[in-house]
Amino acid sequence: MKFELTVLAFLAACDGYKILLVFPVPSNSHGYLGEGYVRHLLRAGHEVRYIAPIHIKNPPKNLRQIDVSSNFNLFPATDIFDLSKMIHKELNTTHIAEVLQLMYRIANGTLLHDKVQELMHNQNERFDVVIAEWMFSELYSGLASVFNCPLIWSSSMEPHALVLSLMDEAPNPAYAPQSTPTTATLMTFVQRAKELWMYLHVIYNKWLYTAMDTRVYEQAYSSAMAVRGRSLPPLSLAKYNASLMLGNSHVSAGDVISLPQSYVAIGGYHVEDTVPPLPKNLQEIMDSAKYGVIYFSLGSILKSRSMPPKLKKDLLDLFGGLKQTIIWKLEEEIPDNIYKNVHVVSFAPQQSILAHPSCVLFITHGGLLSKIETIHFGVPIIGIPVFADQFLNVDRAVQKGYAKRVDLDYDTPDNLKVAIAEILGNPRYRERVKALSFVFHDRPVPPGKELVHWVEHVVRTGGAPHLRSPALMLPWYQKMYLDLLVVILTIICICFLLVKWSFSNRTGAKVKFS
Ligand SMILES: *[C@@H]1O[C@H](CO)[C@@H](O)[C@H](O)[C@H]1NC(C)=O
Repeated sequence: MKFELTVLAFLAACDGYKILLVFPVPSNSHGYLGEGYVRHLLRAGHEVRYIAPIHIKNPPKNLRQIDVSSNFNLFPATDIFDLSKMIHKELNTTHIAEVLQLMYRIANGTLLHDKVQELMHNQNERFDVVIAEWMFSELYSGLASVFNCPLIWSSSMEPHALVLSLMDEAPNPAYAPQSTPTTATLMTFVQRAKELWMYLHVIYNKWLYTAMDTRVYEQAYSSAMAVRGRSLPPLSLAKYNASLMLGNSHVSAGDVISLPQSYVAIGGYHVEDTVPPLPKNLQEIMDSAKYGVIYFSLGSILKSRSMPPKLKKDLLDLFGGLKQTIIWKLEEEIPDNIYKNVHVVSFAPQQSILAHPSCVLFITHGGLLSKIETIHFGVPIIGIPVFADQFLNVDRAVQKGYAKRVDLDYDTPDNLKVAIAEILGNPRYRERVKALSFVFHDRPVPPGKELVHWVEHVVRTGGAPHLRSPALMLPWYQKMYLDLLVVILTIICICFLLVKWSFSNRTGAKVKFS
């Protein structure tokens, strides 16, 4: 018997699952997140069909890809993220309405893409599980209905109200901040009031999309469902039907908030298990940096090149005046760079740079992946937040004591100078980030293993119904006990009326008998 079980377990382990993975957002950072899943799932022996705008080159046999690079046309990043326009306040990329609009367009573009429609209509295609990135749209939930299999959401940010309410309940805005740029410390009366306002604002804006979402959902899935001889469940059910949420978060980087049983934090899974070696020139620069290396990068979407020339020049002069070696990720040459300690690179192998023991400081835009990598490798940061969750990410890092925040404007070089002196002059920033790095790594299993385990768990248990929160079964007014409140108020009213009535009767009687 024991032997048979072992054989069975062995067979099950050999038999990889077929997984549909959807990471539709056209940007490098979302690409890294998707590729992290691909890497771990393939290594565990599964077969992956990957719908994404960035292609993985030389795919192994078990990886087949559907290219939705047309999504790049829906996302004119160079216009949206022009640093000059941002500094001159001509752009507002932080408004939730704009984010929702963009993500709605991307969901549209992905689901109605010919190749994706073809996949859905092909009855020979079957999957054991669908993993879809949740990025402000639940439209992807219909894929699980089409393939009649469980759904796993992948959340790319720290957990917040919109994602957690899909699995259980929104956290209390009094102490759990939203993803939008507010503040990481919710203490004062005004901050709490603002956070509640923000929360209602986000919910309201999301609600505005209900009708449009329903239309696209039906357009995208109805015919594929008909071909497969089943009827499409309403979006309002499908979107709450995920078995699990895998979150790109970890408590060392984010807040301590209560999480549902069906939420698993796997922040850090995208970091390579073994850091690739540095290119030769960078290796030499870093090895010979006597006073340490300051690494400056605003990520892949923001281009340092789009900064106003004066700001670029002032930054260059600031860096040139330091004794440390600077590696600046800039997408252009600096024609008359007179400073020997400033090295400009158009592409930076970020993880390998941060892993080098000479790296003493990372000046970053505060994107979540950069922040997770900096905690992974234990390097203090100066955050220059520019859009989306970066403000919150940087504020959290400042609050945790391993960062300084500098805002982006023409005073940036002056403020940066002060911040650099503070971080390099005071060992507490480095000590703090090393301590957090220990917390980050001190887990029972590495995040990539956890990812694979939970995906397999969902398939093995037929959609993990045991993790489903009962909170999803109640309407909001019942959760808030508003029905009870109505009953109590009604009873009080009735009592009040009865008392009033009996008094008026008695006075009436007095009048009569006197
Ligand atoms: C919800 O998911 C389960 C499996 O995970 C599936 O059996 C069920 O049909 C789904 N329900 C809806 C309404 O999509």
